[in-house]
Amino acid sequence: MPQLPPVSDALRRAFSPVRFAESATKATELLTSHLKQAQERQAFSSYPAPSPEEERTFWSDSDVWKDGRDGIFANVIARSNHLHDPRYMGHQVATIIPETASTGMVTDMLNNGQAIYEMGPSNAVQEDLLMSEIARMLGLPEESGGILCHGGTLGNLVALMAAQRHVAHQLGLDSWQDGIHVFPQPLVVLVSERAHYCIARAMRTMGWGAEGTVLVRTNHKHQMCVDDLQAQLKRVLDQGKRVLAVVGSSCTTSAGAFDPLEDISSVCKRHGIWFHVDGAHGASVAFSSTHRHLVTGIEHADTVVLDFHKTCGLPALCTGVFYGRYTQSFLPFSQHAEYLWDNAEDEDWWDTGKRTFECTKRMLSTRLAAIKAEFGWGIWAELVDRMWALGNVLGAMIEMRDGWELAMKPEANIVCFRPLCPDPEISIVHWNDVIKCLRKMHLKRGSSYVVMTEFDGKVWLRCTLMNPLTDTTDFETMLQEFEALLPEAIKSFS
Ligand SMILES: Cc1ncc(COP(=O)(O)O)c(C=O)c1O
Repeated sequence: MPQLPPVSDALRRAFSPVRFAESATKATELLTSHLKQAQERQAFSSYPAPSPEEERTFWSDSDVWKDGRDGIFANVIARSNHLHDPRYMGHQVATIIPETASTGMVTDMLNNGQAIYEMGPSNAVQEDLLMSEIARMLGLPEESGGILCHGGTLGNLVALMAAQRHVAHQLGLDSWQDGIHVFPQPLVVLVSERAHYCIARAMRTMGWGAEGTVLVRTNHKHQMCVDDLQAQLKRVLDQGKRVLAVVGSSCTTSAGAFDPLEDISSVCKRHGIWFHVDGAHGASVAFSSTHRHLVTGIEHADTVVLDFHKTCGLPALCTGVFYGRYTQSFLPFSQHAEYLWDNAEDEDWWDTGKRTFECTKRMLSTRLAAIKAEFGWGIWAELVDRMWALGNVLGAMIEMRDGWELAMKPEANIVCFRPLCPDPEISIVHWNDVIKCLRKMHLKRGSSYVVMTEFDGKVWLRCTLMNPLTDTTDFETMLQEFEALLPEAIKSFS
């Protein structure tokens, strides 16, 4: 019988509750002070703006390791984007409701997985209950439900896999067992030309290549044009292809446009096509009585994806994949299709791993439970209303300001805009270069953080207003900074 050696001092130290308390106290102190400083706009900018080489040099210096964990915490905080600074107007990542970080500490410590019920009983059951509750808040029918997963990209893939399995079932095929070559026709998805790239990526991942994604034209408001949807549908059917799903965006990533879901759903219903809504960013408007009209028609969706880590104030990643019919959440990964159809009531709802890509998964549902318990779901309507009001106000400020143009009147908390080209002799390409240069200069020298996008052949500055504490003074400062830098950007291209 081999002798078990004693637990080493190093391991005892690493697992000591006292040590945990010290580190948690230190992290709490540092984060509280960071939060206060960020909210008070104390740093020069919300973005530290190092080049990749500068950042690499910093982290390659052996000195950074000498202060242990506390030094790492302090340096990471100092050198990261400060999303709680109201001048951060960049990407679509939540300015988290701060106390959701402490939920993360609890679930990180417990570290229950969830592939099967026994790995995490509380989070598995919470997930099932809360996803059904939220599905109904989205407007989905009584029999709806869903699962949580890590990110909108994965969530959209899973929803399209459900749609594919549905088509296979309609044709009496088992594509899970036999592969996609059993389909007699190529499958395609129809989606707006402004949709997030993860839809095309999902189709390629599923084996349908570039031709698996058919882009539908958008109108002047960047919304899917339903006449073109019908034309494209006819075209692909005439080509002998079969439609796996039509995807509506709520809203689009670049310009924040909401596709007309009601009209899209009517087309889907007429043709018996799976209707998926990529609501990663903006399906949360369904929680607001003021903005719910933007997703009218979502109630007819077969699947909806919503990222709680975007407009619901939760830390990344936390995505809901909702199904109009709960039983269809077993479609993507079920090994035995027939058990689905014959014994719909017998599914093992408690083993969420049967319905998710992930095997081990974080305790995502505890984040939702903490929000419900502490604030009630109403906090999401508050958040959406504030963020959308910010988009509306920034849009109005730009519209009224000399020398600026808006890509479109904002429908969401996403605003795309740029300085007007002062000289008709300057080409579009040349002016695009000026805007790119302007943005680069602002990144280094401006106090706010704004990103850039490109559509309709034009480069745009783009703000996503995720922080409810952002104010009109932040907009004014940001616009003035760009105006001050513009002459230099123009000069560098003359
Ligand atoms: C409309 C839309 N869908 C999907 C995604 C991808 O989500 P994630 O970054 O969580 O993978 C995004 C991200 O910005 C998005 O805006």
